[in-house]
Amino acid sequence: MGRVALVTGGSRGIGAAIATALQDMGCTVAATYAGNDEKAAAFTAETGIKTYKWDVGNYEACQAGIAQIEADLGPVEILVNNAGITRDAPFHKMTPQQWHECIDTNLNGVFNMTHNVWGGMRERKFGRVVTISSINGQKGQFAQANYAATKAGDIGFTKSLAQEGARAGITVNIVAPGYINTEMMSTIPEKVMNDVILPQIPVGRLGEASEIARAVCFLASDDAGFVTGSTLSANGGQYMS
Ligand code: CAA
Repeated sequence: MGRVALVTGGSRGIGAAIATALQDMGCTVAATYAGNDEKAAAFTAETGIKTYKWDVGNYEACQAGIAQIEADLGPVEILVNNAGITRDAPFHKMTPQQWHECIDTNLNGVFNMTHNVWGGMRERKFGRVVTISSINGQKGQFAQANYAATKAGDIGFTKSLAQEGARAGITVNIVAPGYINTEMMSTIPEKVMNDVILPQIPVGRLGEASEIARAVCFLASDDAGFVTGSTLSANGGQYMS
């Protein structure tokens, strides 16, 4: 049995690709999901990866859920904070609800999850925390003041925690995907995708979830012990920071 890995939002999209890639790497993987029971059940049936339902924006739910996973599988050694949502709107139309929903899932969720595995990682002197940020947290994005704020926040969180984890054998890193071929893209109007977004991507295509998963696997591996506080951009050349 390999290391125990926990992937939030791990039953669909980029998260599902990460969960299966970690499993292929030899990890025992658990995945969380927020709402879609049917998709989660199908994912478990297909992959054998256990899925657990809770809202990462709720601290107590994270505490209880992680305790359950640790009872089932053992201590979490690798945490991938992947769960994320968009609530796009130009700022003059953005509602407080759209703002808070993004903050709760994408930023508070990262705190809630990481805080509940951090003590154990410190005690065992090993841990890998990889958080999925976004190109839009690096460069900003029209209609994403909420989402970009959370994704930029994830980077500051990571750089700070990397300094705290270093002496305890815990690395903390970011993968910042560009536009990836997942369900999340379906909210983007076709005209915006074709006329605005695709022309900005030098490789001329969307990325694939498996391409993000490979980057996460590297940062989660034992080999990456000297890499911490870093942001690995995987965006087809769209933004070079
Ligand atoms: N870049 C530049 N202009 C954009 C744009 C973008 N990404 N998205 C929309 N616009 C423009 C539209 O073309 C339109 O322009 P015109 O008025 O000249 O036609 C204008 O903004 C739309 O303004 P509205 O006030 O009518 O906007 P709306 O209230 O109808 O909202 C929208 C529409 C929610 C902004 C919708 O266009 C949209 O979802 N756009 C995509 C935004 C985007 O790129 N989100 C990224 C999602 S991917 C992701 O988040 C994953 C990741 O990490 C990379």
